[in-house]
Amino acid sequence: MNQLIDALFTQGYYVWDDFLTEDEVGQLRDCIPEEWKKARIGRNEEVMRESAIRSDKIQWLHPSMGQPVECFLSKMEQIRLEANRHFFLGLFEYEAHFAKYEKGDFYKKHLDCFQGNENRRLTTVFYMNESWSEQDAGELVVYDLDDNEIARIPPKSGRLFVFFSEQFPHEVLPTNSERYSIAGWFRVNGVKDNQLDIAH
Ligand code: OGA
Ligand code: MN
Repeated sequence: MNQLIDALFTQGYYVWDDFLTEDEVGQLRDCIPEEWKKARIGRNEEVMRESAIRSDKIQWLHPSMGQPVECFLSKMEQIRLEANRHFFLGLFEYEAHFAKYEKGDFYKKHLDCFQGNENRRLTTVFYMNESWSEQDAGELVVYDLDDNEIARIPPKSGRLFVFFSEQFPHEVLPTNSERYSIAGWFRVNGVKDNQLDIAH
């Protein structure tokens, strides 16, 4: 946890390898429901499906999906508390979804705090892909705000990538193998459309 906080201070992101053990990753994968929804851009119902930008499928995480999911969420809660303690971010909620990328699926370059998601401040991406190799492709490419590539991250099992949502555009390169992740966001409270933005 100290390394995470230090790295966020100095570079704004951190790759946390072996965040969970292989067994824990397996248990988490077993919690993924059968049915997948086409991912949409933004949180609002009126937002159109946008298959030109992303082609993955998602499932929002919920504690009722099982104990391993509960455990994952409680680890995220620890990160939330530490991040608030060190950065005074006022993060108040975590939302996350499983994502499945099938062969050829991608997510073009984007920022996570866009189109109805302006309250996102800190992103986490957790990977659940055993023995991922270079031929599997599907790397996460991370850029700075001047569009320089700063990292290329293979979605290796057990790896957690954490970064400030507003500072790093990123993209998922087309994958050659089925690719599973949990993308999540810590949000600040805010007012939207004259309504208090609360957990949904
Ligand atoms: C996202 C995202 C990255 C990944 O869902 O917003 O950028 O590596 N995911 O799955
Ligand atoms: Mn993203």
